[in-house]
Amino acid sequence: MSADSNWLAEVMRSRRSVRHFRREPVSRATIERLIEAARWAPSAHNAQPWRFVVLEDEPRRRDLARAMASRFQTDLQADGMPVDKALTRAARAQARLSEAPAVVLVCLTLQDAQVYPDAPRAAAEHQMAVESTALAVENLLLSAHEAGLGACWLCSPLFCPEIVVRELNLPRDWEPQAFILLGVPERSPSAPERRPLADILVWR
Ligand SMILES: Cc1cc2nc3c(=O)[nH]c(=O)nc-3n(C[C@H](O)[C@H](O)[C@H](O)COP(=O)(O)O)c2cc1C
Repeated sequence: MSADSNWLAEVMRSRRSVRHFRREPVSRATIERLIEAARWAPSAHNAQPWRFVVLEDEPRRRDLARAMASRFQTDLQADGMPVDKALTRAARAQARLSEAPAVVLVCLTLQDAQVYPDAPRAAAEHQMAVESTALAVENLLLSAHEAGLGACWLCSPLFCPEIVVRELNLPRDWEPQAFILLGVPERSPSAPERRPLADILVWR
C-alpha cells in the first residue's frame, strides 16, 4: 500500500506539460486506455459531463487549425499587436495543432445537469460541469504520463468554440473546453516552479 502511494505521488509530481513530440503515432488502443481512465473521474451528481473527440482525420484537423489560427490572428491584431507578430503567433498555434501526433478535444455537455430557473444556480451548475471535466482531463494527463506519453492541455477551443463545433460538426450542446496534445516526448521538459505550501495553505 505504501509503495503504491509513493508511486502515485511520483506520477503526480513528475508529470509535465510536453509541447514537443517525436513523429511516432499514438495508437487508438492507447488513446482509448487514456479515455477509459478519464471517465472514472468524480463528477457533480455523477453527471459525467465530459465528451471526447479524437481528431483522427488529418485534413479536417488541418482545416480546423487553419480556421482557429485565422481567428487568433484577427483577435491579436484587434488587441493592437503588429501584423507580423500576430501572424507568427497564429502560425505557431496552427502548427502545434496540426503537427501533434494525436489530439483529443475535450468538451462538456449539460445534458444531465440540473436545470435551475435562476442565473446564479445555473452558473454554479455550469461551473461544476467545468470542474468535473477538468478532473477527467487530469486523469487523462496522469495516465498518459504513466504510459510514457507526453501531453499538453491547450485552452484555445475556449476562445472560438463556435469554430470548433462547426469544423468538427459536433452536437450543438457540446461545449469545447480544451485540446489535449499527445505523443512521445521529444525531450524531458524542465519542471516549472511551484509555490511553496506556506504560500497556498492556511489553517483556521
Ligand atoms: C486550464 C489550463 C489551460 C492551459 N492552457 C495551455 C495552453 O493553451 N498552452 C500551453 O502551452 N499550455 C497550457 N496549459 C499548461 C500549463 O501551462 C502548465 O500546466 C503549467 O505551466 C505548469 O506546467 P506543468 O504542466 O509542466 O507542471 C494549460 C493548463 C491548464 C490547466
